[in-house]
Order: sequence, then structure tokens, then C-alpha cells
Amino acid sequence: MSEKKFPEQTCVLVTGGAGFIGSHTVVELLKQGYNVVIVDNLSNASIKVLDRIAQIVGEKAAQRLAFYQADVSDRDALERVFHEHPIDRVIHFAGFKAVGESVKKPIEYYANNLGTTLALVDVMRKHGCKSIIFSSSSTVYGDPDELPLTEKSPKKPATNPYGWTKWMIEQILSDLWTADPEWDVVLLRYFNPIGAHPSGLMGEDPKGIPNNLVPYVAQVAIGKRALVHVYGNDYPTHDGTGVRDYIHVMDLASGHVAALAWMNGRTGVEIFNLGTGKGSSVLDVIKAFSKACGRDIPYKIEARRSGDIAENYANCDKAAREMGWKAKYTIEDMCRDSWNWQSHNPNGYEDEA
Ligand SMILES: NC(=O)c1ccc[n+]([C@@H]2O[C@H](COP(=O)([O-])OP(=O)(O)OC[C@H]3O[C@@H](n4cnc5c(N)ncnc54)[C@H](O)[C@@H]3O)[C@@H](O)[C@H]2O)c1
Repeated sequence: MSEKKFPEQTCVLVTGGAGFIGSHTVVELLKQGYNVVIVDNLSNASIKVLDRIAQIVGEKAAQRLAFYQADVSDRDALERVFHEHPIDRVIHFAGFKAVGESVKKPIEYYANNLGTTLALVDVMRKHGCKSIIFSSSSTVYGDPDELPLTEKSPKKPATNPYGWTKWMIEQILSDLWTADPEWDVVLLRYFNPIGAHPSGLMGEDPKGIPNNLVPYVAQVAIGKRALVHVYGNDYPTHDGTGVRDYIHVMDLASGHVAALAWMNGRTGVEIFNLGTGKGSSVLDVIKAFSKACGRDIPYKIEARRSGDIAENYANCDKAAREMGWKAKYTIEDMCRDSWNWQSHNPNGYEDEA
């Protein structure tokens, strides 16, 4: 069983901590006084994010951060990390996340997402560390029968390998607790994370064509892409376009800190939805972004994409009740901060061309 500890006494391993959600979470952890170790192979992140983290939290807090460039499926590398740091808890973000790519590269997706998780929990167990928070996704709910989605809503078969990896890892971690009830497992089901750090120093830095709506809209706003493709305007939603529950990455980061404080010394498997509880349509997002950047965002209505669902949004009462966590940011805040990041860093973490 994990011991109850104050943040200053707690060492948190953050896999994938150089990535979009990981980096924002690391900032919040350091601000709360935690000691943090990032393991990231930089397959989808830039080393420059470490300087940005230090700029935001200050040099003193940044001294509580260690970084290892390593693959989480590399057991020897993980062993070294566990030998060199007294890891108490793990937040596991590392993995591939592009739905479309996962359909084309199922082997790579299963190998990376399952391989990292299996190596990680095995090494954790050897070192007596049995507390883990996992980045799951609302994708496990599939096409919902009823809205809003609660943690009791049924899981549906996934429609792509990425979704299956989330589904399977939830199962693996639950089985781990069945076999050894000393494990402390929290499955956080994120809805649609967007936004950026309000300082404009950190944000999402997609490589190639963005897979998600807001980074795409941001690139249209900055002139990198001509227009936004809106897939379907005949869904049964308020304006016919798909509705999603967007959540600011800062709210997501504070959700991890709340989960860490909540799980402190508990055992079991708990699931929490992390969303705002409000749905926004594609056109709502385009409108909010257009207001944030002060220019029109051109868009074109296209046919529906197969596999897309009309609407999903969360009920987050459980997180509020149990962990005292609630999302604070609105869709306007999310678009403002995304635009602030995009306009100050047109090429993400890369130097300007
Ligand atoms: N962004 C979303 O829309 C969303 C929604 C639901 C769940 N999630 C999950 O949250 C997690 C973080 O997502 P994100 O948006 O920050 O993605 P991201 O790609 O920005 O972050 C993932 C990080 O993991 C690293 N990584 C990947 N494979 C690795 C490996 N084998 N070893 C070490 N590091 C590795 C990457 O370099 C990257 O820094 C992922 O597990 C993702 O599936 C994301």
C-alpha cells in the first residue's frame, strides 16, 4: 500500500512529461511542491519544453525536476530511474495518440502503448511502487446511448487501434489491482484537451497536419492552412456540426494534481471523467477562435467522416464530489490561450523559419 505523504516528500514519475498534457501537469506539480522525474523519448516532444517549464516555475522549483530521455518500454532505463529516485507515484502519459495513424500502424500503436505500460508496471512492482494515474480517454465510451457520460456509462468496442489500447490498458491496470489489492490505480478519462499555458510559453506542437480541430483552426488563423474542413453539418445537434466537450489543458493539469492528492495512500481502481460538462460544436469553436484572434476563419462543409459521432460530453460530478475538482476555463478562454501560444510560437518549439 502506498504511504500518505505531503507533496514535498513525494517523488512523482511522469512518463511522457515533455508532451502537451504532461508538460502542463509537470508545471502544476512543481508549483505544488512535488519532486518530479520526467521520462520521455521525445518521439513527439521537444527538449526545449524543459526551459519553458523552468521559465514558468522559476529556477528554484525547477531544481526539483529531473529529466531522462529514454523509452518507457526500456526496462533497463526504467530500472536506472527507480534506482536514482525514490519514486512514490507514477503519472503515465507516454504513448502514441493519433487515431487516424493508429489505423495505418496498428503494430506500432499496440507495441508502444501496451509495451510502455507493461514494462512500467513491472518495474514499479519490483520497486514496491504501486500508485499509478493513467491517461485514458472518453473514446472508451464509443457512440453513447445517453448523455452526459458518467463513469458508469458502458464501455463500447473501440473503432480504432488507439481506442483499443486505452480500453486494454484500463483493463490491464484493473486486473493488476484484482491480483494485488495494494495497487492504487486512477483512470482519468479525458474529454477533448485544448488550450495552452496562459503565459504563451507552452502549448500543443503537432508535427505535420494537426489531427485535432483546435490546432488545425489555429494554423488556419495564422495563415499556415487555407481553411477548416468541417465534416458534416447534418448531425442532430444545435447547428448540425459535431459537438464535443473541450477542456482547457490547465484544468486537466489541475485534475492530475487533485487526483494525486486524493489517491494519497488509498488502494483500489477509480475512474474519473475530466471534462467541463458542456458541449461545443465545431462552429462554436470556429466562432470563439475567430473572436480570440480577431479575424475570420474560413471553413468548408464536407461530408461526414465515418466513425465520427454526433455528440459527446461528460458528467464530472464524481471528480467534484470526491476530489473537489471542477473545470474553470470556458471555450473562450481555451481559444484565447491557444491563439496566444500559436501567435507567439508560429512554429511551435522550433525556431522561426
Ligand atoms: N490530447 C488528447 O486529445 C488526448 C485525449 C485523451 C487521452 N490522451 C492521452 O494523454 C496522453 C498524453 O497526450 P498528449 O496530448 O500530451 O500527447 P503527446 O504526444 O504530446 O505526449 C505524449 C508524450 O509521450 C512521449 N512518448 C511516446 N512514446 C514514448 C515512449 N515509448 N517512451 C517515452 N516517451 C514516449 C512523447 O514523446 C510525448 O512527449 C497520451 O497517452 C494520450 O493518449 C490525449
